[in-house]
Amino acid sequence: MMSSCSELIFYINGKKVTEKNADPEEVLLTFLRRKVLLTGTKYGCGSGGCGACTVMVSRYDQHHNRVHHYTVNACLQPICTLHGAAVVTVEGIGSTKTKLHPVQERIAKAHGSQCGFCTPGMVMSMYTLLRNKPQPTMEDIREALGGNLCRCTGYRPIIDGFKTFSDVMPTLKNEQKCCQNAGGGKCCMENETEYHKDTDISQELFCLDDKLPLDPSQDLIFPPELMLMVKKRSCGQLYFQGERVKMVSPVDLSDLLELKLQYPDAPLVVGNTTIGPEMQVKGVHYPVIIYGGRISELLTLKWSINGVCVGAACTLTTLKEEIERNVREMEAENTKGYQALLQTLQCLAANQIRNMATIGGNILSANPKYDLNSVLAALECTLCVMSKANGIREMPLNEELFTDFGKTALRPDEVLLSVHIPYSKPWEFVGAFRQAQRREFAFSIVNAGMKVFFREETNIVESLNIYYGGVGPKMIKAGRMCKELVGRSWGEELLADACLILEEEVELSDYGGKVEYRKTLTTSFFFKFYMQVLQDLRRRDVGVCDLPLDHLSALKPFKNEVPQGRQSFQLVSEAQHSQDPVGHPMMHQAAFQQATGEAQYYNDIPPVQGELFVVMVTSTRAHAKILNIDPSEALSMAGVVTFLTASDVPGQNRRMWLNNPEELFAEEEVCCVGQIIGALVAESREQARRAALRVKVTYNNLLPVFFTIDEAIQQQSYFQPKRKLERGDVDKAFQTVDHILEGETYMAGQEHFYMETQGLVAVPKGEDGEIDLFVASQHAAYTQEVVGITLGIDYNKITCHVKRLGGAFGGKVMKIASLSAITATAAVKTGRAVRCVLDRGDDMLITSGRHPFLGKYKVGYNSDGSIVAADITYYSNGGCTLDESSFIMEKALLHMDNCYRIPNLRGRGLVCRTYLPSYTAFRGFGGPQGLMMIECVLHEVAVKCGLPSHKVREINMYRDEQSYTHHKQLFSPLSMLHCWDQCLEKAQYCDRLKAIEHFNANNHWKKRGISAVPIKFGVGFSKGFYNQGAALVNIYKDGSVLVTHGGTEMGQGINTKAVQIASRILKVPMTSIHIKETCTGNVPNAAPSAASFGTDAVGMAVKNACEELMRRLKPVMENHPDHTWSQWIVAAYCQKISLSATGFFLGPHTGVDWENSEGLAYYYFTFGACCSEVEIDCLTGDHKNVRTDIVMDVGKSLNPALDVGQIEGGFVQGIGLYTIEELQFSPEGVLMTRGPSQYKIPALCDVPPQLNVHLLANSQNPHAIYMSKGIGEPPVFLASTIFFAIKDAIAAARRERGLGDSFPLSSPATAERIRMACQDQFTNKALSTKKETSKPWSINV
Ligand SMILES: Cc1cc2nc3c(=O)[nH]c(=O)nc-3n(C[C@H](O)[C@H](O)[C@H](O)COP(=O)(O)OP(=O)(O)OC[C@H]3O[C@@H](n4cnc5c(N)ncnc54)[C@H](O)[C@@H]3O)c2cc1C
Ligand code: FES
Ligand code: FES
Repeated sequence: MMSSCSELIFYINGKKVTEKNADPEEVLLTFLRRKVLLTGTKYGCGSGGCGACTVMVSRYDQHHNRVHHYTVNACLQPICTLHGAAVVTVEGIGSTKTKLHPVQERIAKAHGSQCGFCTPGMVMSMYTLLRNKPQPTMEDIREALGGNLCRCTGYRPIIDGFKTFSDVMPTLKNEQKCCQNAGGGKCCMENETEYHKDTDISQELFCLDDKLPLDPSQDLIFPPELMLMVKKRSCGQLYFQGERVKMVSPVDLSDLLELKLQYPDAPLVVGNTTIGPEMQVKGVHYPVIIYGGRISELLTLKWSINGVCVGAACTLTTLKEEIERNVREMEAENTKGYQALLQTLQCLAANQIRNMATIGGNILSANPKYDLNSVLAALECTLCVMSKANGIREMPLNEELFTDFGKTALRPDEVLLSVHIPYSKPWEFVGAFRQAQRREFAFSIVNAGMKVFFREETNIVESLNIYYGGVGPKMIKAGRMCKELVGRSWGEELLADACLILEEEVELSDYGGKVEYRKTLTTSFFFKFYMQVLQDLRRRDVGVCDLPLDHLSALKPFKNEVPQGRQSFQLVSEAQHSQDPVGHPMMHQAAFQQATGEAQYYNDIPPVQGELFVVMVTSTRAHAKILNIDPSEALSMAGVVTFLTASDVPGQNRRMWLNNPEELFAEEEVCCVGQIIGALVAESREQARRAALRVKVTYNNLLPVFFTIDEAIQQQSYFQPKRKLERGDVDKAFQTVDHILEGETYMAGQEHFYMETQGLVAVPKGEDGEIDLFVASQHAAYTQEVVGITLGIDYNKITCHVKRLGGAFGGKVMKIASLSAITATAAVKTGRAVRCVLDRGDDMLITSGRHPFLGKYKVGYNSDGSIVAADITYYSNGGCTLDESSFIMEKALLHMDNCYRIPNLRGRGLVCRTYLPSYTAFRGFGGPQGLMMIECVLHEVAVKCGLPSHKVREINMYRDEQSYTHHKQLFSPLSMLHCWDQCLEKAQYCDRLKAIEHFNANNHWKKRGISAVPIKFGVGFSKGFYNQGAALVNIYKDGSVLVTHGGTEMGQGINTKAVQIASRILKVPMTSIHIKETCTGNVPNAAPSAASFGTDAVGMAVKNACEELMRRLKPVMENHPDHTWSQWIVAAYCQKISLSATGFFLGPHTGVDWENSEGLAYYYFTFGACCSEVEIDCLTGDHKNVRTDIVMDVGKSLNPALDVGQIEGGFVQGIGLYTIEELQFSPEGVLMTRGPSQYKIPALCDVPPQLNVHLLANSQNPHAIYMSKGIGEPPVFLASTIFFAIKDAIAAARRERGLGDSFPLSSPATAERIRMACQDQFTNKALSTKKETSKPWSINV
C-alpha cells in the first residue's frame, strides 16, 4: 500500500490531463494558470470569497445515471480531488477566435464587463446554471451569482444581460420601459409626466435583437472515458505525494477507517472549504490529508420514518435541494425544522461554496460562526460516528460536542458517517436566525437555532432548546433558560423572564468585538422567536393574547431581490452622421475578450524563461527600531534565491512624491505594521511565501505609538501643510443667528478591493541596463520615474507597459511604484525576470486605502433652516507617511460647500500623522468625506428645526446663475437644480415620503427612511500641471489605425471613448482602430488616470492628433474625393506624408491660493442628485436598500452606456463605503480584516432592487471634449443617501420609543450601529452589563 503515487486523471475543457506526480497542495486555480496556461480563471482572494476563480466541474453520478454539473471556486479545489472529473473553464465555452458562447456575448453587450476581472467568474456561474436549467428564473440567476463579487459595475448590467436567458424574457421589452415601481408611488406608465414623451430620450442601452441563441448541443460533452472509469470502478485507493504533503483517497469505508487509525491527526477533507483557506491563507501545514469524497456511505442521503439521515460528505447544495424537494410533499407539521434549516442554507455562503462544502465539514469545523450547528442542535440531531477500533456510536449534536474553537469530542480515529435530522412533531415550533455584516455570502456575527415543544393544544412549554453560535469560542446552549421555562405559558411574563435569564446566562467573549451588539442580538433573536411562536399559536387558536399588528413585520426576513431599473439618456441629434459613434452606448472595446478570458492582465503574461517570484517581508511592529534582520534560515530553504533589503538598492531607497520621500525598504525604523522591510526572491511563489515567514527581524519598540485621529489630536501630530478656506466672516455671523449647534461626525476608511491585486512582472533585457515592466499601474510614468531613481538609471531605459487593470479606483498610483522599484531591484540583482503578485491579505495590509475622517463642526442657523455660518475642522488619518494625504484633504475642503451657498463658511484641514500604513488616493479623493461632513450638518439642522431635510437642502442651495464657490470659483448651478428637481420628481419623492410615514406608523420593528442629496463635484486636478494629456496616433498602410495615449484602461472605458473620438474625426469605423496598451515608450510623461479627468485629457489629445492627421490628408482627399480611406492612405504614403501624429492637450491652469481662499480649483463641475429609500430591521440592524433614483449631469455623454456604468458602479462602491465596509484594526495597529471573509464589499444582495439612472438631457459643457463631463468619481458620494435614509429610519424608530431623533451615527452605518442606535430594552440591558475592558477588540482609527 502507498508504494507509488497514483496517476491523476481528469479533463480540462475536453482534453485529458494525466498527472503522474500531482501535488496535494496544488489547487486547480494555480494548475490552470501556471501549468495549462489557461489564465481566464482569475485569482482574486484565494479563499473562496470572491468568485473570480469560478469554474464548472462535472461528474458522472452512476446511481442516477446522470452527469452532475456544478460551480466551484478553483482556488479551494485541490487537483488531487478531481480524479474522474471534467473541468470547464471560461476558455472552454467559447472564444472570439471561434464562436462566443451566448453567456459571454450577452454579458459583454449588456455592458456587464468593465475592468473585466470578475467577468470570467460571472460567465462560468451563469453558464453552469444554464447547463442545469436552460431557462432559469430570475431567482435562479440571483442565487447563481450570489458568490461572484464585482467591484466595478454595480451588478445591474450583468443581471440585465443574463436576464435575457430567463423565463421573464418574453416580457422584457415592456418591462424595460416601466419603472416597475411597487408600493408607494404610481408606476411611471400610469403617470403622464413621468413616462417619457420625449422622442429623443432612450432607455435602451443595449440591443440583443441579433443575439446568439442558447444551443445546448454546442456544449462540451462529458468525456465517455470518465463515465467508464466510474462504471468500472477501476480505481482503488489513490495516493499522491507532494513536496511537503501526502494525500490519500481511500476507496471505501474500511479503507478510510484504517487510514484514520493510521493518521489520527490527518484532516478528513471533502469540500476543503475550511481546510483550504487555512492552508492557503493562514499557512497551516498538514503533512497528511485524507480525502473522503469517494466513500459511498458518506455520500448517501436516506429518508426514513424518523427523518432524514444525511451522509457526512453530502454537500450543502445536495442537502438544500433534497430538503426542498421533500418538504413539498410532506405534512407541513413535520417540516418545521427543515424549513428553518432551509432558511439557513439559503443565506449560508454562496453557490460555489455550498457545492463544495459538506454538512460533516460544517459541523466538525467547530467554528461557532458557521450556521448549521445551532440549528441542528436545536432540532436534536444525532451524529453517527465510526472508528476501526470501536465501531459505530451515536452522539447527540449538542453543546457537549464542541470542546473548544475548532475542536470536537470525536476521537482522533473516528469519522462522522452521517447526521440524523428528525421530523418535527406536532406542537413543535422552530426558528433559525442569523445576522451578518452582509445579508448574503458572509459569516454570521451571531446565529441561533431555537425550538419549543408545547403540551398538546396548550401554550405550556414542554421543552425548549435555544442554541447560539458567535457568542464565544464554541456554540452554546442557553441551558438554564431552557430548563426554567419548562411548564410556563408562552406569554409576556415568560418573555420578560427569558430575557433576564439570557442576559445573565449568555456570557459573551471579547473575541470578534461588537460585544454589546452581539449580546443584543441574543435577546433580539429570542424576541423574534417569541413573536413567531405567538403568531403560530394564535393561528391554532391557543389562548394567547394577540400580537399587535404593527409587530408582525419583524417576523419577515428581508427578501433578496434582483436589481432592475431604468436607465435613460438623450439620443444623439438626428443631424449626426450615422457612422459617427460618439454619443452612442457603445460596448466596452475589450468586453468580448474579457468575457472569454482572453483579455490579458499583468499576471496573465506567461512565465518568462527563468522567472523568479518576490514576496515582501513586512513589519510586525507599529513603531520600532530595527535591531537586526536575519534571513539565514529563509536563505537555506528550497528554491530561495536571494533576500533584498535597503542595502541592495543600487540607486536611492526612496520613492519621491513631489517633495515627500518615502522609504522603499525601512532602513532603521518602522512606523507601521505592514511596512516593507525586505523582499524574498525564490523560484516559485509558494517557496517565496514560506521563506518570507522565516526571515527573523528583531526590533526595539519605540514611543510614541498611536493610531487614531483622537490620539493624534491629543499628540498634536500633524503633517504639513495645514489648510484653511474661508468665505465671509464666520465668527461675526455666529453672533447673528437664531441657533448654534456643535457636533462631530466620524467617517471610517475604505479598502479599494479592486478585484486584481497589485503587482507586476519586471523583465531585465540584458542590454544597456534596459528593463521592461508589465505593471498594473494607473500612472505608468510615475512608476517609470521611481524605478529609474531606485535603480539609478535613466528613465529612457525603463519601459512600463500597462495593458489593462483589473480595477484600480485610485489605489494603483503610488504603492505600485514602490512595489515596481523593489521588483525591478530584484530583477537587476538576479539578472532574471521577477514577478510580484500581492496576496489579497498583503495587498490590504501594505497598500492601505481611503482616509478615515473626523469632522468637528459648529453651525449657526435660523429657525427656517437657513444656514448662516458653518465652521468645520476636518481631521484625516494620513497614516505614517504623507503620500497624497494633503491633496486629498485639499479636495475635501474644496468640496465642503457642496451645493449650498452658506455665506459664512470656514474649513480647516489637518492630516494626522499616525503609526498606520499610509492612506492613499481612492475614487473621490477626499470628496466623499468633505461632502459627507456638510451633509451631516444639513441633516442635523433639519432635525433641530423639525423640517424635512430636503427642504433645508433646498433653502440653502446655490441658485444664482452666476454663483461663486467658497473658493471664489464662478459656476452656474442651474444643471444642479435641474438634476435635483428631476430626481425628486422621478423618484416621486413627496408621495413616497407620505407612504413611508404610513409604513412607519404601522410597523413597530421595521422602519423606512428616505433621503435625497445633491452633488457638485469638481473635475480635474487642482494641481494644474497634471491637467495635460498626450496621445500618439499611427495610421498604417492598410488603413488601420493604432491609437496610443497616456491614460490607463481600468474598466472605465477610456479606450472605448478614445476610439469613438478617433472614429469620429478620421471617419473610419471603430473596428479599424486599435489600442494595444499604455506604454511609456510611446507616450512619455503622462499624467495619472485620475480625478475623473482621464477621458477629458486623453480624449482631447487623441482628437488633436487625429485632426493633425486629417489636416495632412486633406489635400489627398480633395484630389481624389471618390477614393476609399485605404486608397487615400496609400496615396499619402507615396507622397511622403507622415501618417503618425502626436496629440497634446494643454489643460486648464488650475490652482488655489490658500492664503486668500481663492482660485480656479477645477476645470468645471459635474452635478447630480440622488434619492434613496431603505428599510431597517430595528431588532437586528439589518437593512435593505429599497430604491434609488439618480439624475446625473454628464454633459453630452460620449457614451451613455459607459457613463451609466460609472454611475451605477460608483454608487454601489459608495454603498460599501457608507454602509457595510468596515476595516478593523487591533489596538496594536494590526489590520485584522485582510480578505473577503472579514471585509465585505457590496454583493448582488446590496443593490437596490430598483436602481434608476437618468442622464440629464440637454446638458452642455463647453470645457470638455464634445461637451461631455467627467464622471468617474462623483457617484460614490451619491450613496450617502442610503446612509441618511438609514438615519431617517432609525430616527423614526427612536421617536416611537420616545427618544430624541438627534443621535450620533458614524459611517459606515453597519448593522451593529443601526441596531445600537435603535435603542430599546434589549440594547439598554446589553449596555448596562458592558464590561470596561482595558483593551478593546478593535479601534476606530
Ligand atoms: C467563503 C466562505 C464562506 C462561507 N460562509 C459560510 C456561512 O455563511 N455559514 C456557514 O455556516 N459556513 C460558511 N462557510 C463554511 C463552510 O460551510 C464550511 O467550510 C464547510 O461546510 C466545511 O465543509 P468541507 O467539506 O469543505 O470541510 P473540509 O474543509 O473538507 O473539512 C473541515 C473539517 O471537518 C473535518 N471533517 C469533515 N468531514 C468529516 C467527517 N466525515 N468525519 C470527521 N471529520 C470530518 C475535517 O477533518 C476538517 O477538520 C464558508 C466557507 C467559505 C470558504
Ligand atoms: S480567488 Fe477563488 S474565490 Fe476568490
Ligand atoms: S468588471 Fe467586475 S470587477 Fe471589474
